[in-house]
Amino acid sequence: MKKECFKIAVFAGDGIGREIMKEALKIIKIISDDKNINFQLHEGLAGGCAYDHFGTPLPDSSLQLARQSDAVLLGAVGGPQWEHLDYSIRPERALLGLRGSLGIYANLRPIVAFDELLDASPLKRSIVQGIDIMIVRELTGDVYFGKPRGIKQGKNGKRKGTNTLVYTEDEIRRIAVRAFEIARTRKKNLLSVDKANILETMELWRDVVTEVGRSYPDVTLQHMYVDNCALQLIRNPAQFDVIVTTNLFGDILSDEAAMLTGSIGMLPSASLGKKSALYEPIHGSAPDIAGQNVANPLAMILSVALMLRYSLSMPAEAQLIENAVTETLKEGFRTRDIHQPDKKLVSTAEMGDHVAENLRRFLN
Ligand code: IPM
Ligand code: MG
Repeated sequence: MKKECFKIAVFAGDGIGREIMKEALKIIKIISDDKNINFQLHEGLAGGCAYDHFGTPLPDSSLQLARQSDAVLLGAVGGPQWEHLDYSIRPERALLGLRGSLGIYANLRPIVAFDELLDASPLKRSIVQGIDIMIVRELTGDVYFGKPRGIKQGKNGKRKGTNTLVYTEDEIRRIAVRAFEIARTRKKNLLSVDKANILETMELWRDVVTEVGRSYPDVTLQHMYVDNCALQLIRNPAQFDVIVTTNLFGDILSDEAAMLTGSIGMLPSASLGKKSALYEPIHGSAPDIAGQNVANPLAMILSVALMLRYSLSMPAEAQLIENAVTETLKEGFRTRDIHQPDKKLVSTAEMGDHVAENLRRFLN
């Protein structure tokens, strides 16, 4: 039987996070009213706002809340007012702290070109048409978490910076398994992206992914160096199905791939571990447009759809949210980032309202 009560931790965060989260909550309310499901939404502070309040970007109370929830929804963290702070207390540490402490090692970033937005991409329509890529980014290893790290005064009186690229066999294996499993549900093509021509850790990555692949004879595994992948994403993105890669490469390649869809404001993500899961748009807090009601809430709304699909066993409702977004784009409504001359420019809240209206219609 479907569970009828879910505890969701809500961290709107900083910058546009608050505005887009409001729109996501509208969508959750509609689902909850229509399906008679009790979403217990618990709002907490994470990021710069938490630092201002508690002196730390991720207070224990927020971490506890995240740990005890069925899923975490996060807007965005960071902003120029916190950039002078030590790395250990910057807003971004909230995100890394959540990822590390919750053990959410698999970050899924679906890159789908909406037909309605093909002309919003800076690339030619013929190149971006029909792309449907799933980037599976490892999220709790690599230089993001490796030690030693830091900037030290060397003996010669000059500073030296160090970060450590480290992956254990087990870390590689578990992300590879996730990626093969996902590939199985799609076109069964998996591309592993590394830099094995230069880095020993990446040679281990390639070896372990290849080993895991022996248990998935139905999935075609290929390998590519990250520099070539960056090029191929622009040259011929339609060749890709599922891409599995490291934390740092995944961070960079997913921003690049986002532009295929027209705007980074369109891309949701799911970060999954054994028990916990976190859902957030892949864009940041966009301080330059924060508070102006112009940000694109669709990545945040689509993150709610991913939450329903991956954490709450509600794939049909997830699909309806995605359909409502497509319908809204078909109707011609656009926020500033995806606006084109013949379309109707709307605010963050108006965009949320249009999606909500379509969702209500689809539910009936
Ligand atoms: C992302 C972001 C984060 C990352 C930052 C905000 C820490 O760029 O989720 O892609 O680098 O992982
Ligand atoms: Mg990033």
